[in-house]
Amino acid sequence: MTANRIVAIDGPAAAGQGTLARRLAACLGLPYLDTGLLYRATARRLLLAGADASDAAAAAEAARALSPPDLERTDLRTPDVDRAAAAVASVPPVRAALLDFQRSFGQANGAVLDGRDIGTIIFPQARAKLFVTASVEARAYRRWLELTGRGVHAALETVREDMQARDAADASRAAAPLRPAEDAFVLDTTVMDADAAFAAALRYVAARV
Ligand code: C5P
Repeated sequence: MTANRIVAIDGPAAAGQGTLARRLAACLGLPYLDTGLLYRATARRLLLAGADASDAAAAAEAARALSPPDLERTDLRTPDVDRAAAAVASVPPVRAALLDFQRSFGQANGAVLDGRDIGTIIFPQARAKLFVTASVEARAYRRWLELTGRGVHAALETVREDMQARDAADASRAAAPLRPAEDAFVLDTTVMDADAAFAAALRYVAARV
């Protein structure tokens, strides 16, 4: 049954869920989907079309028009896309347009998916649900290191403020707000390195998948 082969990973920005999800997928031999890319690619299409990120109708149209090359773009992790992705993610028709793709991705052979609403909305019946979190300071520092490493210059304070604004928007929106599923295993990675987080996650997931 598919629910037995779904690993749902949610959490706020830069808590380490991407790295963790990729490693779990490789270890379990499951496909991996970074669902944030769908919202980022929608946002990039919108910005390229010159539309405003708050234009709900244009955002829904961009989500419905997504195709595989949109997900392969190299400009999906820039600060302007960070902000626009959080805006389009609060539009219910955008979320509706992206729902089937996420479910079909997992339904055939199981999968590891990471995002904000995987354990609550996309696969509420998944047996393995992780909510990965960390303090805002730790997450902002990780994102700042990542941006700096890619040559994107930003002040740490600005990264922290942007991240807090994005988390607040994700947690307070009416459509699929960011929150742990009731049956999720909460993993706080504030003082954990990637190996320790992976070991803790694998212990939890291996007993369920
Ligand atoms: O995970 P990532 O930071 O790439 O996600 C970008 C944005 O997409 C998030 O800030 C959030 O607003 C949105 N998102 C979402 N639901 C998901 C994945 C991402 O609302 N499942």
